[in-house]
Amino acid sequence: MKKIILTGDRPSGKLHIGHLFGSLLTRAKLQNDYETYIMVADVQALTDNFSNPEKVRSNVREVVMDNLAAGIDPKKSTIFIQSMIPEIAELTVFYSNLVTISRLQRNPTVKTEIKQKAKLFKDSVTYGFLGYPISQSADITAFAADLIPVGEDQLPMIEQTTDIVKKFNNIYGETLTLPKALLGEAPRVKGLDGNAKMGKSLNNAIYISDTKEVIEGKVKKALTDSQKIRIDDKGRPEICTVYSYHQLFNKENTEKIKKECQSGGRGCAQCKKELSEKIISFLEPLQKRRKYYEERPNLVDKILKDGTKKARKKASETLKKVKKAMRLDYFE
Ligand code: TRP
Repeated sequence: MKKIILTGDRPSGKLHIGHLFGSLLTRAKLQNDYETYIMVADVQALTDNFSNPEKVRSNVREVVMDNLAAGIDPKKSTIFIQSMIPEIAELTVFYSNLVTISRLQRNPTVKTEIKQKAKLFKDSVTYGFLGYPISQSADITAFAADLIPVGEDQLPMIEQTTDIVKKFNNIYGETLTLPKALLGEAPRVKGLDGNAKMGKSLNNAIYISDTKEVIEGKVKKALTDSQKIRIDDKGRPEICTVYSYHQLFNKENTEKIKKECQSGGRGCAQCKKELSEKIISFLEPLQKRRKYYEERPNLVDKILKDGTKKARKKASETLKKVKKAMRLDYFE
């Protein structure tokens, strides 16, 4: 039997190159050898967009198209909508008994996010947002997933899931599958502004669907070594955002670029121009695939509808086992 992969994205915006190198490209590669489930996590997106349902709704299709653009083949992978799988919500309730408030408050990713969303969670964070790692554990275990391809920021969620699985199996008997995280090629991609993380809500991202002009404009403004002003100033590639992108999109030339930059033989403007060209040509085939689906919205809907049906079947099998283990299997 094939091992199972589950991963997903929040539909709170289009996906960017951080998602691409963190998880999307890994999924596309592994879909040949694993039973692959890709979730559009609309329920999770609502945890910090609850006043903005239209935003979440309108990004569902975008996120699906970004996955298809990255090479996800709907014949091989199952793409589905989280809110259409009520079994996930049920599991979330059951798991809530196994997680303490202080455990949730210690989650480093959630902590950072609460800080970033200070405006939204002025006085106090919602129960739903603080608890989303429990819901994510339900996402993962509902599909008995073995491997979770994610970026580094998601490691605390996988750890939370492992805790829940161990506790559940210990109390109710061996039922749930223990998952493992699988980090992508670049588990953390810097933002254009030099922020440690590229993020939808941080306004520092290059999107998979960005046009040539937009990419050129963004790269021009990207943060470099602030002490390197003239071409012959010696630069520090290790702290330069532009260099970190060369390491992704222009692998064959990174050594050369590093030496030139360090010895004062390379200007930032030229370096940025070369980078833009590499990004644009890397994204070209992805954008071509994306365009195919953009022109066929009914096909995208059909992929989601078929995928959701298949996913629901899988999740209901797990829920049945869980209820039996918890002595909640009263009658058919
Ligand atoms: N938290 C993930 C993100 O912000 C999205 C997600 C939801 C997810 N459920 C998941 C990722 C299950 C992996 C597995 O991008």
